[in-house]
Amino acid sequence: MKINNKRIVITGGTSGIGYEMVRYLCPDNEVIVVSKNINKLNELSRKFDGVTTYQADLSKTGNTETIADIIVKRYESIDILINNAAVQHSATFIDEKFRYESISYETALNFTSICSMTYLLLPALLHKEKAIIMNVNSGLGLTPKTSSAIYCATKGALNIFSQSLRYQLEKTNISVQQAFLDLVDTKMTKGRGKNKTAPEVAAKKIIYGIEHGIPDHDIGKVKLLRALLRLSPSIAQRIMKKH
Ligand SMILES: NC(=O)c1ccc[n+]([C@@H]2O[C@H](COP(=O)([O-])OP(=O)(O)OC[C@H]3O[C@@H](n4cnc5c(N)ncnc54)[C@H](OP(=O)(O)O)[C@@H]3O)[C@@H](O)[C@H]2O)c1
Repeated sequence: MKINNKRIVITGGTSGIGYEMVRYLCPDNEVIVVSKNINKLNELSRKFDGVTTYQADLSKTGNTETIADIIVKRYESIDILINNAAVQHSATFIDEKFRYESISYETALNFTSICSMTYLLLPALLHKEKAIIMNVNSGLGLTPKTSSAIYCATKGALNIFSQSLRYQLEKTNISVQQAFLDLVDTKMTKGRGKNKTAPEVAAKKIIYGIEHGIPDHDIGKVKLLRALLRLSPSIAQRIMKKH
């Protein structure tokens, strides 16, 4: 099923994988982008027809509520919600660079705002014959690495949340899907990692998963990781610990 003539809300569409998804989807769809940086949002609406932008720092509960309220009042129905915005702070708890405030910021953006946005946009999603919630996840949501403990935990929580929400919505018109990505070459991974997936490739694969209704779509090396976690969890954990 090709995605066209759909109304799609995407968070964090101003850079990296989100930007590439917007670029790919906007010629044939109405794309509504919610992101933090107003200059990047303005540039996005200048560059692409059919894109509407809303500025919000989704780490702030009030902002998420305000923007979700504006969206449900303006749009009666939504076909696809892509929960994509996230940050990753790499410092460990014993690192001098660790910032205490990053705990609540990262948890709020990567997890709480997704639960809130999903709940608050449900009336518009329930309005369609068929709707999709796509939560952008990571191999680190299956098993953690040493650094970025909060990031890994939020992605693990997102995985459990997505599965439970899928049960809750199974008798409705809404499917809950996840895409589990390996390392992608974006601002988030700047200066670290090798053999990274290009963001446009990751974006196309996420969209392929939506089009083909894949509930938990393992992308790139995550396929191997999940298989190894089944065959030999301790080897998989040892590899990811050093990741
Ligand atoms: N890159 C990877 O290796 C990788 C691997 C696995 C999973 N993922 C997942 O893929 C998704 C996209 O990541 P990415 O690599 O494309 O990251 P990215 O390039 O850093 O982009 C993150 C996006 O989120 C937005 N954002 C950041 N803070 C925000 C806030 N407080 N409120 C609203 N929007 C905010 C950013 O907006 P600004 O540009 O305005 O800051 C940007 O559009 C994330 O869910 C990430 O966890 C990434």
